Amino acid sequence: MSGQRENWGSKIGLIFAMAGNAIGLGNFWRFPYQAASNGGGAFMIPYLVALVVLGIPVMLVEWNLGRYGGRYGHGTLGPMVYLQAREGLKPKKAIILASLAGMLAFGVTLLVNSYYNHIIGWTLGYSYLSLTGGYMDASKSTAEVFVSYVQNPVMVFTFWIIALTGLALAVMRGVQKGIEAWAKLMMPVLYVFGIILAIRALTIGSPVNPDWSSMKGLNYIWNPDFSKLNWKSAVAAAGQIFFTLSIGMGIICNYASYLKPDDDVVVSSFATISLNEFAEVILGGTAVIPIAYAFLGPDGVGQGVGLSFIALPNVFRSMSGGQIFGALWFLLLFFAGFTSAIAMYNYLTALVEEDLGMERKKAAWLVFFAYVIVGLPVGLETVLTKTADLVYLTELDNWVGVYLLIVLGLLEIIAVAWFMGDKALEEMNRGGIWQIPSWFFNVFHKTLTPLVAAILLFFSTIDYIKAGYFKAIPDFVAGSPQLIPWVNGARIVLFAVLIFGFVQSYKSISTKYKKEIEDNEVSIRA
Ligand code: ALA
Repeated sequence: MSGQRENWGSKIGLIFAMAGNAIGLGNFWRFPYQAASNGGGAFMIPYLVALVVLGIPVMLVEWNLGRYGGRYGHGTLGPMVYLQAREGLKPKKAIILASLAGMLAFGVTLLVNSYYNHIIGWTLGYSYLSLTGGYMDASKSTAEVFVSYVQNPVMVFTFWIIALTGLALAVMRGVQKGIEAWAKLMMPVLYVFGIILAIRALTIGSPVNPDWSSMKGLNYIWNPDFSKLNWKSAVAAAGQIFFTLSIGMGIICNYASYLKPDDDVVVSSFATISLNEFAEVILGGTAVIPIAYAFLGPDGVGQGVGLSFIALPNVFRSMSGGQIFGALWFLLLFFAGFTSAIAMYNYLTALVEEDLGMERKKAAWLVFFAYVIVGLPVGLETVLTKTADLVYLTELDNWVGVYLLIVLGLLEIIAVAWFMGDKALEEMNRGGIWQIPSWFFNVFHKTLTPLVAAILLFFSTIDYIKAGYFKAIPDFVAGSPQLIPWVNGARIVLFAVLIFGFVQSYKSISTKYKKEIEDNEVSIRA
């Protein structure tokens, strides 16, 4: 099987594809509102700590899991985790840990993309609205424009299906001609758009109020107010690190599975992180927060999820050249989202190829069909209930967009650092220009990273209990009875997908490693 797998065409193509995988809506849509609503500068402290303690070690682990798994012909996480866990656990136990990891990766790639594809559709719709002046009419607030957008079935479903079809067509063409080719085109364009917007943001002065300027906006994220530092912002910052780096999803591992056995993973991991952080902190932070601060002031900047789709159109309305800058902004979001969604799409396509033996084109259409099914409720909620609370999306995001990523990161690190142990470090360093020293592996991978991830999960669970996420009727829908079925629907879908994912992953591993699992002794080596 390993002989049939594709490889990346070039080093630069691989780096763009990996950067595209990581750089997504998380950098430009999620990061600014997370930072702004969690105390600005106070958010950046736990953010940078989480980057070092969780982001870097887990990124290295995922590249390592992927390259090693690829050697055995695997592109999905279950068998990859099995291969490393079996070095320290008996196969019958390793398969349980691995099936849990496979289950979570399946749940995340299917369900995150079920709503992520919709948001990509919105960015496309809003690019169109920017160019046609669709939100320029000041008689309607930008919040009203957004509400009517998400309640309009033509807008919601047309742009969603266009985005999804674009993804299917790209994934069908394979790793080199599809994913790599698109990343090489979209990533440089994204950086150019980001730099133009960041320069525009910094040169905007004080257009509305002499006390509000883009420089004060920069100060807002770079000058921490320590009194705002709290546990909630720390959890949010760590969650953001997982989301933005695409770790705890299985998709970095999947891309790394197309490496050749001696391709470097250490420098490439650091390159992915650096490109992502430049896009997030420098471009996302500079383009969005200062621009929003200059036009909307300190209260406007903390607007939450609506920052990209509700606050920024206000800015484009009152800015000279606003239609063009608006279109640049939403196209930037589109490119960012597309190159990440393609990674989740490819994960499931690889799963169908690997486990059903289906050829790529057919597999890609099967995944298209699956995304249509799981994405329908996201669009239908707002269209049918004539609301814009997006509770189905929110409920899914609470689990597959944050919490379960940390759980998966923890399982991966346990399999690699505790069960494969020092052999995993050797494997990680193979072919590398830089080498990870064993003190780093011992301090971070074996100790600090799993400890911090476990503590984080503990406090996140407490936060979730307090926020009412475990109640039959969660607090955030208590006042809107018509939305309760949507939240519970999301829970049923999540539960069903996870059960399916576990069974699928278990079957996949037990079929491939049948004999050694029956004998409970490792015997298959590549
Ligand atoms: N890492 C991707 C993002 O930031 C999923 O959106």
